[in-house]
Amino acid sequence: MRKYQLILLIFVLLISGCVGKEVTPIASEEFFIIAHRGASTYAPEHTMVAYEVAEQLGATYIEIDLQMTKDGVLVAMHDETVDRTTEGEGLVKDYTLEELKELNAGKWFNETYPDFANTAYEKARVPTLREIFDNFGDRVNYYIEMKSPKIYEEMEEELLSLLEEYNLLNHEEDVPKVIVQSFNRASLIEFHELEPSIPLIQLLGNKEEAKFTNQEMKSLKTYASGIGVNVNAVDGTFVHEAHENGLKVHLFSLIGEADIKKALLYKADGIFADAPNVALEIIDRTQN
Ligand code: G3P
Ligand code: CA
Repeated sequence: MRKYQLILLIFVLLISGCVGKEVTPIASEEFFIIAHRGASTYAPEHTMVAYEVAEQLGATYIEIDLQMTKDGVLVAMHDETVDRTTEGEGLVKDYTLEELKELNAGKWFNETYPDFANTAYEKARVPTLREIFDNFGDRVNYYIEMKSPKIYEEMEEELLSLLEEYNLLNHEEDVPKVIVQSFNRASLIEFHELEPSIPLIQLLGNKEEAKFTNQEMKSLKTYASGIGVNVNAVDGTFVHEAHENGLKVHLFSLIGEADIKKALLYKADGIFADAPNVALEIIDRTQN
């Protein structure tokens, strides 16, 4: 969809006070452990090995941040530039896939986190979303973030088309096979209009954004199934109000034991964890 069409669509939807298609709820009462950028404590974030470790450690989801190459390929990467996690520099959108594949995506991790360094990581490359789906199929659950949809034309359509191709739509499990998240509200609304069977999570960046009125929660409920928000931006009342509005709450980014205990205290529905095994141990210890 062209950007002007999208703006028009959102304008009409906001004026009418609702988004047309029904939202698919997240039915599960299970507490989700979302492996943040893969098991990013133990392996270089957003590499195949980081997702494989996450699967082995029992995460409910592998989290994948998406950027897009110059030739329109969706790749797993957090930043808009390659500078932090490869030895290259510049914007992902200025690299073709072939050029991006020349960069090493693991050496930085060995240098930054020597305690977890592994020579095997030196072979890591930036994976495409297609390669990730090829590797895991429907063996894992995917929690996918459209990271910078403003700068990538038709990111939503491209993601949807891959989900369709890999038969990842219309799964009706209580724990959804795929959840899509974004900080970008317009992009989520567009995605919901294109494919309402995928539950969406509206990400909120800071305390200001997290000061939601009831009206805002109701508006969000017209396209999203839940909220993803920083654990330090909310409290138990926020989570309670979200639940009253039928919205799940997933908290990021939970580094230490105190944060995880806070998430349990607030009765959140899941957490983004860099070390899924540690999160599971703490939860087990706290609840038994
Ligand atoms: O997607 C939720 C959380 O991951 C947002 O933080 O910056 O790690 O993508 P970030
Ligand atoms: Ca993310």
